[in-house]
Amino acid sequence: MSKQSNLRGVIEATGIVIGSFVGAVLIITLLVSGKSTDQTAPTSPVVAESSAAQENTQPVAQVKVAETVSEESGSISADKIVQANCVLCHGAGIMNAPKIGDADQWAPRIAQGKDTLIYNAINGIRTMPAKGGNASLSDEEVAAAVIQMANDSGASF
Ligand code: HEC
Repeated sequence: MSKQSNLRGVIEATGIVIGSFVGAVLIITLLVSGKSTDQTAPTSPVVAESSAAQENTQPVAQVKVAETVSEESGSISADKIVQANCVLCHGAGIMNAPKIGDADQWAPRIAQGKDTLIYNAINGIRTMPAKGGNASLSDEEVAAAVIQMANDSGASF
């Protein structure tokens, strides 16, 4: 082995080292750039998912239901007012509330007259809270509920 071939060997070895280093850098660069596209790739589905989730949850939120109820409260039927506000106590006779449909319990109350019953329901009487506890009901709605309840219990208002 001459010195020259020794030198060539060193140059070749250096070339291999440099070559593989450059190759490694290239591979790493490719990997990193590949990773960075991989990193942005999941973001778009996530964004798409969250906007899809927003679309999905919007109907579930049902904010409109509450709006509809309050908007329609002026026109909902007396029966619905009774079901929503009065049956809680007057359905089962809780706290000695006269039961809807029990003519015996209602007879002495009906005998007071329609206007007195309506007045007492609007303003409250003893353990009966004013407007059944729902202050958002109008006097007219309470009156309609009283008439409905009394007529269901033997009156003919
Ligand atoms: C928290 C329970 C409760 C709710 C809710 C309730 N009531 Fe009553 N109500 C009573 C009780 C208890 C009495 C009996 C009070 C008494 O005479 O001591 C009564 C009595 C009445 C009477 C008879 C009043 C009288 O002069 O004898 C009417 C009419 C009446 N309620 C209407 C209604 C209407 C209409 C609603 C719904 C808008 C309603 N109540 C909701 C508990 C309730």
